[in-house]
Amino acid sequence: MPATVVTLDTLNEDAPNHEGLLCESRLAFLEHALASAPVDRPLLLFQHHPPFDTGLRYMDTIRLANPDAEWDVIARTRKPDYLFMGHLHRPIGGAWRGIPFHIQRALAHQVAFDLVTEGHIPGSHEPPDYAHVTVDGDRIVIHQCSFLYDGPLFSLHDKAALERAAF
Ligand SMILES: [Fe+2]
Repeated sequence: MPATVVTLDTLNEDAPNHEGLLCESRLAFLEHALASAPVDRPLLLFQHHPPFDTGLRYMDTIRLANPDAEWDVIARTRKPDYLFMGHLHRPIGGAWRGIPFHIQRALAHQVAFDLVTEGHIPGSHEPPDYAHVTVDGDRIVIHQCSFLYDGPLFSLHDKAALERAAF
C-alpha cells in the first residue's frame, strides 16, 4: 500500500553534545515535504531527535532544541500520521500533540530504563531489535523483531512443546 515517507535531518553538527536542531533550510524542507505530500495516503515522518521530553533525564537535555519551530510547520501544513525517531536507544511509544510516535531501540548499546539519573547517560546491553512497519490503508502496524534471540520457537497449541520450553 503506498505511503509517503519523509526523512528529516535533525543533527546539529555545530553542537558538541549530539543535540538536535532544525535550521531554516530544514524547516523549509519540512514545510515543502508536508505541504506537497499526496493526501490519499498515509504520511510517515522519520527524524533522529525527538522534539519532546520522555523522562530520560540526560537525553531530554539533548533532544531537538527547537520543537516549537517544527510544530509551527506541522500546524500550518499537515500532521504526519506517524512519527518515527531514534536517538534515545530505547523502545518508546506514545503521542506528541496528537501524533502517534515510535522510538526505535538501537542496534548497538541501549539507554537503560532509568528516569532518575542526571548528568550522564545510563547505558545497558539489552538486546537490540529492529522494527517492521507495514501500512495498509488506514492501518499502520509496527512489529519489533528481536533478531538476536536464539531460544526455542514453538507452537502455543503444542502442550508438550510448551512444557519443554518452560523455565
Ligand atoms: Fe543520537
